[in-house]
Amino acid sequence: MRNITIAIDGHSSTGKSTVAKQLADYIGYIYVDTGAMYRAVTLFALQHDCIAEEQVNEAKLVALLPEITLHFEKNEDGKAEVFLNGKNVEKQIRTLEVSEYVSPVATISEVRRKLVEQQRAMRDGQGIVMDGRDIGTVVFPNAEFKVFMTASAEVRAQRRYEELMGRGHTDITFEEVLENVTERDHIDSTREDSPLVKAGDAIVIDNSEMNLEDQFHILLQLAKDRIAGRI
Ligand code: DC
Repeated sequence: MRNITIAIDGHSSTGKSTVAKQLADYIGYIYVDTGAMYRAVTLFALQHDCIAEEQVNEAKLVALLPEITLHFEKNEDGKAEVFLNGKNVEKQIRTLEVSEYVSPVATISEVRRKLVEQQRAMRDGQGIVMDGRDIGTVVFPNAEFKVFMTASAEVRAQRRYEELMGRGHTDITFEEVLENVTERDHIDSTREDSPLVKAGDAIVIDNSEMNLEDQFHILLQLAKDRIAGRI
């Protein structure tokens, strides 16, 4: 079986990470959630006063970038969790506060350069499934299989809302989550550096009305065809 690179991009809260991880586990590839890396940098920015009065202090964050080290470690369920300067921050990076600032942080070119370099080094000859916003366009433009996932903003906000409720964030309203989702879509798609756009050769999956199982089987079949060199 040849090792290929699978790039899964798309809008926030489309369930990219869930299906990307499922696919990687099934075919024995490594899986990298690049959103977790941008979230960890955002958490660092919050912890180091690089965000004040709802504004990201870009110069301060850029100056502190050399102090940021990120790595992934698998937990007992085999899920890779992100570590910021040696500390597991997987839970802290999923809060609404981090979600609010991650898109502005991800517009900063110096941040992107640092993370893209680390992402490229992770391939290292192995089969890899990587999800994010710019994987098929910037990180691995030659990826053998590219997917662009999307769904309506309302469906995505509902999913995120249920996820946050499930984790006990009961003080948040659906409207706040919907606003965050649409705001992030806007910033991610209109930023100058590596905007979220579908790669010309990516396959679009709109999962607004698709269940997780069907979506997984569609992706798996497409991935198998690519790995076998049938497409
Ligand atoms: O996938 P996610 O929602 O955890 O990603 C969080 C944010 O990080 C998203 O709003 C945009 C940014 N991001 C990015 O700019 N490039 C990536 N490859 C991954 C995420």
